[in-house]
Amino acid sequence: MTKFADIKGFVFDLDGVITDTSVLHGTAWHQLADYLGVAWNTELANGLKGISRMDSLEMILKAGGKENDYTQAQKEELAAKKNTNYVAEVDKMTPANILPGMKAFLDDLRAKGYLLSLASASKNAPRVLSKLELADYFPKVVDPASLTHGKPDPEIYTKGAELLNLPASQCIGVEDAAAGVQAINAAGEVSLGIGDAKELGAADMVFANTADVTLANIEKALG
Ligand code: BG6
Ligand code: MG
Repeated sequence: MTKFADIKGFVFDLDGVITDTSVLHGTAWHQLADYLGVAWNTELANGLKGISRMDSLEMILKAGGKENDYTQAQKEELAAKKNTNYVAEVDKMTPANILPGMKAFLDDLRAKGYLLSLASASKNAPRVLSKLELADYFPKVVDPASLTHGKPDPEIYTKGAELLNLPASQCIGVEDAAAGVQAINAAGEVSLGIGDAKELGAADMVFANTADVTLANIEKALG
């Protein structure tokens, strides 16, 4: 079992961890589901967290039994429609949209020499980081376009540790999604979940709120 003293790096998810864009993604998908005539519910909304744009669309279509109703070109158009709505909301964001405690946590990590990388499935991640004025904190960002498989596959977290030149066992992966926690565990990193302990039960440690994510609390949890 990894000890706190072994940890040298953090591989961060973005949406729902550093900022509440998971709500904006959810709203934009909900709008699209309404347009498609697919019933929306919390289970579907939670299942989409951490899932790539096209995989999310496939999940919504499947939930409505419509997976065979659209051509690839039509699916691309539907995904683009969702993205246009999402980006319009992202462009209104400011550093005030950083979740409670996250800026202080990132500052503390940086001051103490931990290495940081970003493992977000979002192709909009650089845009979001720039709106939050956090781009400088993450010089190492996994390009989701380079991935063969999305979360819950470990690939994105494996790449996040590789960008830091660290073995997976010396990294903590930080996630709000069950699919992301699964990815971190499969990559062999320590998993830190933020949110509902029932939903994120597979994580090595779970904090209810971003404000609880501090090095002191992580040290307590890991020992
Ligand atoms: C993840 C979000 O971070 O990125 C998902 O949790 C989202 O909800 C995915 O679908 C892809 O984002 P984007 O910005 O590339 O459509
Ligand atoms: Mg997330």
